[in-house]
Amino acid sequence: MRMVDLIATKRDGGELATADIQAMVEGFTNGEIPDYQMSAMSMAIFYQGMSDREIADLTMAMVNSGDVIDLSRIHGKKVDKHSTGGVGDKISLIVAPLVASIGIPVAKMSGRGLGHTGGTIDKLEAFPGFDVELSEEAFVSQVNDIKMAIIGQTGNLTPADKKLYALRDVTATVNSIPLIASSIMSKKIAAGADSIVLDVKTGSGAFMKSFEDAKALATEMVSIGKSVNRKTVAVITDMDQPLGFEIGNANEVKEAIEVLQGKDVRDLKVIALTIASHMAVLGEFYPTFDEAYADLETRLGNGAALDVFKKFIAAQGGDASLVDDMTKALETKYEKTFVASKAGYVSEIIADEVGVAAMILGAGRATKADEIDHAASVTLHKKVGDHVEVGDVIATLRSNKETLDQAIEKMDHAYHISETKPEARPLVHAVIQ
Ligand code: URA
Repeated sequence: MRMVDLIATKRDGGELATADIQAMVEGFTNGEIPDYQMSAMSMAIFYQGMSDREIADLTMAMVNSGDVIDLSRIHGKKVDKHSTGGVGDKISLIVAPLVASIGIPVAKMSGRGLGHTGGTIDKLEAFPGFDVELSEEAFVSQVNDIKMAIIGQTGNLTPADKKLYALRDVTATVNSIPLIASSIMSKKIAAGADSIVLDVKTGSGAFMKSFEDAKALATEMVSIGKSVNRKTVAVITDMDQPLGFEIGNANEVKEAIEVLQGKDVRDLKVIALTIASHMAVLGEFYPTFDEAYADLETRLGNGAALDVFKKFIAAQGGDASLVDDMTKALETKYEKTFVASKAGYVSEIIADEVGVAAMILGAGRATKADEIDHAASVTLHKKVGDHVEVGDVIATLRSNKETLDQAIEKMDHAYHISETKPEARPLVHAVIQ
């Protein structure tokens, strides 16, 4: 069928056949289908949606557009984890060594941050010398040796998604559940794990602001996973304020290490244990979630996960001595505090604004070409529900650039103070499986 006919079918609410979806993705990847036709198709999908079968077909067509990683030489059940992204999200740095410490292999590909959200790869590069580009051979052998490796995405993984995402970004078609679900799941499936745990964020700092949208996305992704025989669980977690107290790169690593040392940073601990427990059940280490949670809680902080983390940093060429003392990685030229201008309770912290403040300090990129300053950081001293008096320090900002005042303006937009104490939101909203 001609592309113009496929666009018309979708525009009028019809279903696309499997072979047509395959041909469309193939043609778009190799340049036979021009961007303007694919843009029109994306907009038609945005308005008309897709059936579960169409979404599964689109996902697999994107998987097959490039390399599919073969993890069969890694012993044991491989379980992957993915977050839809947020501010202060260092959960992978806690979960991966924790799960690896019980022997479940974690062979993970992670992304870089863009805009107000951070990326695991950028955080790991806070360790001087850390190599995010291992050969497939080295990747497999490291996971077999120490049960954990995290690398950046290889060049030819799901090229159709790469091209389509760039197009969606400039045609106002990112925010479509079928397109987001197929984009994320195609990358996870191509990355080769047997099972997948998805951390779907909801709240002001998330892609999916409302719980209903987060649930619809989670349900769609679980359905795609099942349709291709990957056991998939989605946990819907809260992103209505930044996660933990640290936002940046080196300081986020430091906070993750503190949790691995046993510090009870409540939101990080609960969400990390929830994700890790689902991974451990899918990895067939525990029979039930409750048993997994109880046991992993005792293991978090007993030193085993921290030991895996140190070995992992060293194995990929990073300076593992920093794990014991991150001070050197956190030094900046300038530091300034953001203080409360009125008394009351912190009722809201708009996560996106805090993420932008960190970006202005140098911790993130406005464009793909920007360089990151791993030491630039925001440390929050007050979270939602805390009481403040006039002049109390709410946050400390650090940078090597003279942009602190601009970042403080963003913090001022981010923090809302009210007379009454707000109701606490749950950290885990739902589990879809
Ligand atoms: N993340 C992705 O990988 N793809 C999307 O479409 C949205 C978020």
